[in-house]
Amino acid sequence: MPTAVFEGRGCVLDMDEFWVSMGRRALIVTGKTSGYKSGALEDVCDVLDKNGICYCIFDSVKNNPTVENAYEAGLLAREFSADFVVGIGGGSPLDAAKAAAVYGSNPELEPYEIYDGAEDNPLPVVEIPTTAGTGSEVTQYSVLTVESRKTKVTVKGDWLFPKAAFLDPRYTKSLPPNVALHTALDAMSHAVESVLKRNNSYISEPIALGALEIIGRNLPELQNFPCDDDVRAELLHAAMLAGMAIAHTGTTIVHSMGYVFTYFKDMPHGMANGVLLPKFVEFAEKAVPEQTEKIYKALGISSSDEFACMIRNTGLEHPVVSEDEAVEFAKIAITNKNVPTAPWKVTAEEEAEIMLWR
Ligand SMILES: [Fe+2]
Repeated sequence: MPTAVFEGRGCVLDMDEFWVSMGRRALIVTGKTSGYKSGALEDVCDVLDKNGICYCIFDSVKNNPTVENAYEAGLLAREFSADFVVGIGGGSPLDAAKAAAVYGSNPELEPYEIYDGAEDNPLPVVEIPTTAGTGSEVTQYSVLTVESRKTKVTVKGDWLFPKAAFLDPRYTKSLPPNVALHTALDAMSHAVESVLKRNNSYISEPIALGALEIIGRNLPELQNFPCDDDVRAELLHAAMLAGMAIAHTGTTIVHSMGYVFTYFKDMPHGMANGVLLPKFVEFAEKAVPEQTEKIYKALGISSSDEFACMIRNTGLEHPVVSEDEAVEFAKIAITNKNVPTAPWKVTAEEEAEIMLWR
């Protein structure tokens, strides 16, 4: 786990030596809203100014960024001769920042060559989440949308681990409540999938269960979002832990089905995972009851029915998926290379059934 994690109010501003050690020129990668609204961008600009570090801002990261969108940020990193990249925002800017860092230091790399798996020696990346969900701040993954494949594809490599992550609960206060819920469900999904995945280990499991214990305890609090700083600090911490767990194991079929939902139904990533989790857990309960038992215990519940209740009680709303759509989506999702990592030998029919949970 090579990423240094700094947590607490004002942590970005307290680390002059760290920022100076990163270099003299920074590219900041963010979206149109959360970096500005959260105060994170202002803090980063302040600390860079204070330490005489030049920066330029790429604030055009789209939701579910495409390869081309990340490449655009990479071109700017190159033009600006950035020494390092700072990603600020939810999963989209954090993932785009990692890809921009690869393009920024590899002028010969064509946009789609990022999937070739070669070690690309990217610029160092600092990640500052403004949502408590993605975990991208501590993983070696960058998830980008590929239009030609009609889904998202994960770029993966140890060289993508950020150098550092800064978790400040002040930055999640301005989130819309539904985004806070969706991102919490994303973190929950990372932890649940990690525990149920076939390569779950003695290292990843306690980390994932630790995340679930915190999420289970704080999920009802999200009804009163923005809650207080302590609750949001705990959720940021849990999302980071769940990120560490999937840095070891990766995610499994909830995420690959969710990518299809996001592409075709425009469902936010966390909402898609939240919708898919209950039926997935119900199937998993039959296949690997000893593993689902651990999940239930961490969440303070005792069955898949209670798990489904827990998700329903969050007030999660989602668009209707028709039976025909589910059958079509499952045909795509079942081709994902992570399908064999599921805790049972999953079929397209079962994936369609998981997609139809309401
Ligand atoms: Fe996710």
